[in-house]
Amino acid sequence: MILRKTVVTEAKVGSDPTGRGVRNREVRLLLAGCSVLAGATLFFSGCATRETAAPTTLKDAFRKDFPIGVAINQRQFTGQDTNGVAIIVAQFDSISPENALKWDSVHPRPGTNGYNFAAADAYVAFGEKHHMLIVGHTLAWHNQTPRWVFQDANGRPLQRTNAADRALLLQRLHDHIQTVVGRYRGRIQIWDVVNEALNDGGSLSDTNLLRQRSPWVRILGDEFIVKAFEWAHEADPDAILRYNDYSIENEPKRKRLIALIKMLQAEHVPVMAIGSQTHANLTWPSAELEDAALTDIEQLGLPIHITELDVNASQAGQRSQSADVSQNVPAGGGGVADLANQKLAGQYGSLFRVFLKHRKNIKLVTFWGVTDRDSWRSFGKPLLFDGEGKPKECFQAVIRTALNAPGKLN
Ligand code: G3I
Repeated sequence: MILRKTVVTEAKVGSDPTGRGVRNREVRLLLAGCSVLAGATLFFSGCATRETAAPTTLKDAFRKDFPIGVAINQRQFTGQDTNGVAIIVAQFDSISPENALKWDSVHPRPGTNGYNFAAADAYVAFGEKHHMLIVGHTLAWHNQTPRWVFQDANGRPLQRTNAADRALLLQRLHDHIQTVVGRYRGRIQIWDVVNEALNDGGSLSDTNLLRQRSPWVRILGDEFIVKAFEWAHEADPDAILRYNDYSIENEPKRKRLIALIKMLQAEHVPVMAIGSQTHANLTWPSAELEDAALTDIEQLGLPIHITELDVNASQAGQRSQSADVSQNVPAGGGGVADLANQKLAGQYGSLFRVFLKHRKNIKLVTFWGVTDRDSWRSFGKPLLFDGEGKPKECFQAVIRTALNAPGKLN
């Protein structure tokens, strides 16, 4: 592992490894667990339950703990999905763009004219209109990145052994980050800077730290991680910069995560929060595993964000612990499990009990989609709202967990 010494962030972030030294007051308060969103909606139409004493929305139930976010799609941030918009505005404090800020969406072609900000602008405008904490997802990822990024002008694949190729790819990464983060400076408060760069292998004896099949890793090694964080920090010094990955509950990947982040911290690279995607199934991760994982990750001294929470209830999904989109078909077969609604309620309740136990360090919990119909794994009916937008048993279980947590101040 070769991580080079960097000076650019030392003064600002090195002295503040929690990344909480941001100046944006609204973000600071939200990440401290205090909702500053005016006029919290106490009536949710899809739920048809009038608020009396206890909170009936997610954001109210967890107001003293952490903000609650949700990934939204184009039909939602452009207002076409009116039912979805009503749920988002009533229930959530924060939004993530499910696809709108990925490289292939925002920067489909090479060159300064190759950007297309129509969707991303609409996404950010939606968040601002509704006074939400706005997340950017994601800057450097091996998926949903156009092929041209990793080729020269003639279509020849860039090579690690060729210094000019490496310089070209770094230049592209630099321009992409400066342009995209710079455009939304002060408006997007949190960025997933590097996504899923860790080796996904399930064995402790597999010593590769990084995902060898990623073209970023293949061509640039770990340099792209260092540079991506440095350039994102330059482009918006107030943004909270995350490293985001899935299945970090599992020990081999968690150890790699901790090793990577410690190396970045030793070099004063401005990584400010850990994103744990938490694409779960009905039994994995168990409460014990989730607790052990969060406890282990806390040694990094960084805020933890649960970034893509869902619980796959499909039969075949019970054997899968991968959130790689290539695993989606195998994770989808067999229809939903028996007693899926009850089991979803049990698993969501169990996960939120653990999140609440760690609420000192968990600064955001985001669901990956609004309703089961919107989800990337809709076959597994993984979310709190059914395809019509009605709250499921697991929605009530999550609210109950918030209200019954020991030591609650609500
Ligand atoms: O944009 C094209 C559209 O032009 C085309 O007509 C259509 C035809 O199928 O496909 C559209 O692209 C799809 C895209 O979502 C936008 O809808 C892709 O095929 C599809 O693969 C893509 O899936 C997304 C997936 O990431 C890609 O890797 C999912 O919606 C999104 O939920 C999922 O999210 C990822 C996170 O970003 C990172 N962590 C894992 C998570 C789940 O895989």
